[in-house]
Amino acid sequence: MTNIRSYNIGSFSFGYQAIYQKRELTTEQHLQNRTTTKSFGTGKRENHDSSSFYRRKLFKTRASEETTETVSTLSSGVLDQVFAHSSENMSELPDNSVALMVTSPPYNVGKDYDLDLTLDEYLNLLERVLTETKRALMPGGRIAFNVANVGRKPYIPLNSFVAVMASRLGLLMRGEIIWVKGRGVSGSCAWGSWMSAGNPTLRDLHEYVLVFSKDRFDRPCKGRSTIDRDEFMRATTSVWEIPTESAKRVGHPAPFPVALVERLIQLYTFEGDVVLDPFMGSGSTAVAAKRLGRHFVGYEISQEYVDIIHKRLGQTDREFNGQSKQHVA
Ligand SMILES: C[S@@+](CC[C@H](N)C(=O)[O-])C[C@H]1O[C@@H](n2cnc3c(N)ncnc32)[C@H](O)[C@@H]1O
Repeated sequence: MTNIRSYNIGSFSFGYQAIYQKRELTTEQHLQNRTTTKSFGTGKRENHDSSSFYRRKLFKTRASEETTETVSTLSSGVLDQVFAHSSENMSELPDNSVALMVTSPPYNVGKDYDLDLTLDEYLNLLERVLTETKRALMPGGRIAFNVANVGRKPYIPLNSFVAVMASRLGLLMRGEIIWVKGRGVSGSCAWGSWMSAGNPTLRDLHEYVLVFSKDRFDRPCKGRSTIDRDEFMRATTSVWEIPTESAKRVGHPAPFPVALVERLIQLYTFEGDVVLDPFMGSGSTAVAAKRLGRHFVGYEISQEYVDIIHKRLGQTDREFNGQSKQHVA
């Protein structure tokens, strides 16, 4: 019988059958059953043959890769558009049409645009949006989900909840990027008990970008990549140091930096691909997509922010036109 272990934070409980199963044998019993012994020295992984590694039981619980190659295209009325309604319903997007979703959701922590949701209600919102995203993603399409953990009493590990949620939805996790926002950027002096073990508190200098794929890890349809060697080397490590964007400059309480999205777009998409952001805010994803010759589509529930997105996109166009005029001259 399977024992589903749950995490509990407040009223929220999260069972995850695929990972946490009742251990039926003790370690001694497993050792007795083991039929092969391994010698020390060069392992299979070191010479790039990872087949025996992925045959291990550890990977038996994961969703298997499928090989469908169906891809749909977005109509011209949808391409490069921002829709001013909730991304819980993205019916404008056909199934299997988006190459990459990049987003930073509302964190439900009291920003101007935040509702005051319970953890259950909040995670249910994210789950509805992730379900719609999965439908719209093409096979091999990726999700780059920027999330921070919140609170201290207790610390709520949203990164873990989202990782488990996405796995339960059948998405394949492919990595976790630690986005270091700059030394001392937290600006917080909430260190708890000053220089005392009484109750010292950690101040996060980082957020996460969780990366998933739909159905398969590779992109069956090939295209032209635009990333150069140095950027590829930086982008394929799991710690990215990128400074934050100024809320005042952009006119939104929580923008992420265009440089962060540009790196994700260059790493995970081909030229001309469609990039979706279901929580557009000030439109950083759209700006990055436009600058890199990709298409965007997005959702933003606040008309005030939709107006800011159009202003930023107009400015991006003017910058591009200015650059191309300079080239001609
Ligand atoms: C963290 S902000 C995104 C910031 C964005 N990455 C940027 O660079 O400006 C989250 C945004 O999601 C919007 N939002 C909240 N709930 C939404 C929903 N259900 N559908 C669409 N947008 C929503 C909020 O108005 C807010 O602007």
